[in-house]
Parts: sequence; structure tokens; C-alpha cells
Amino acid sequence: MSSIFQRRSVRSFLPKPVEDDKIERILRAGMEAPSAHNRRPWEFIVITGEADRQAIAGMSPYAKMAASAAAIIGVCVNLDLGGVENPEDTWWVQDLSAVTENILLQIVEEGLGGVWLGWYPDKDRVRAFADRFKFPPTVLPFSVIPLGYPAKKADGADRFDPRRVHYGVYGTQK
Ligand SMILES: Cc1cc2nc3c(=O)[nH]c(=O)nc-3n(C[C@H](O)[C@H](O)[C@H](O)COP(=O)(O)O)c2cc1C
Repeated sequence: MSSIFQRRSVRSFLPKPVEDDKIERILRAGMEAPSAHNRRPWEFIVITGEADRQAIAGMSPYAKMAASAAAIIGVCVNLDLGGVENPEDTWWVQDLSAVTENILLQIVEEGLGGVWLGWYPDKDRVRAFADRFKFPPTVLPFSVIPLGYPAKKADGADRFDPRRVHYGVYGTQK
């Protein structure tokens, strides 16, 4: 079964570190993502230190599992790399979403689990993360991905819903 159908958010982890070669393959998968104009406006921060993981867990009410993850990958945009002259040009949000999904799928390929934590556009979360990790002003955290060896097996219920699919004209279904 492909990783797309196996993937589920994992929020509890074994107390076991993740090998560096796995982290590198996960980052490689992220950098294979498509991007508007092939700008690839991404950067990544890899965090493993306990105090940093605890701090991230406290930056969002929905990030408690970050404290017990083996590692955390911050998927970030560098607005300079994105060639963004107009701050309202947010094509990069789609680029970074594709990166985040690629990363989640490679995490499954590596026998690991992870969860996408929404960071951008929550201003408080973005500011807290950028300040702690000393980002320059043009770099913003987009998503935050705690990962590690899963503490339990995820269930993979089928979500296909034919009522959401329209053929030729809206409302026509098989
Ligand atoms: C943009 C986005 C933001 C999310 N933010 C959080 C979050 O802050 N905390 C969390 O535990 N899960 C978060 N999730 C994970 C979703 O809760 C999860 O994907 C959804 O419940 C479906 O479950 P599944 O990932 O197991 O298929 C987020 C997912 C997305 C796509």
C-alpha cells in the first residue's frame, strides 16, 4: 500500500531518536515538491533539543505532542527566494503545502510518524518561532512537523466519497 493511504497524523512517539540518514531523506522528499515558477522558496530548520521542543509545544494550544517528538522539522518560506515583490503574492503557501505533504509521506516511508501543525498565518505562532530560532525578517515558519517512531499503529480507514466527485458538470455522479 502506498504511503498516501497509510499516512495518518501521529501524535505519540517512542522515546527513540531518529537516525540522521532518515531525516536527510525526509528533507530530500520535501525539496522534490513542485513550486510556482520553480522558485523553490523553502528553507528548513531541524530541531531535536529538549528545551526547544518544550518551547514549541508551548507556542500553540495544539502542539503539545511536540515536547515528546524525537525531532521537529520547521518548514519555512524565504520570501527573498520566492521572488515575492508584493506581500500579497502568496503562491508560496501552495509551494510550502506541497513540501509539507511530501515530508509527511516520506516520514511514513521511513517507518516513522508525524503530524502537520499549522503555523502560518497565525501571527503569534509565527513570531514566537521566528524569534526563538533567530530567523531573519524575510524567513517565516509555515508548518511545524513533530516526528518520531510511533507509539501506536494508526488506523487507515477508507475516506473515498463518490458524492464529492462530479463528472463533466457539477451534480453529475456515477
Ligand atoms: C493546515 C493544517 C494544520 C493542522 N494543524 C494541526 C495542529 O495544530 N495540531 C494537530 O494536532 N494537528 C494538526 N493538523 C492535523 C489534522 O488535525 C489532521 O490532518 C486531520 O485531523 C486528519 O487526520 P489525519 O492526518 O490522521 O488524516 C493540521 C493539518 C493541517 C493540514
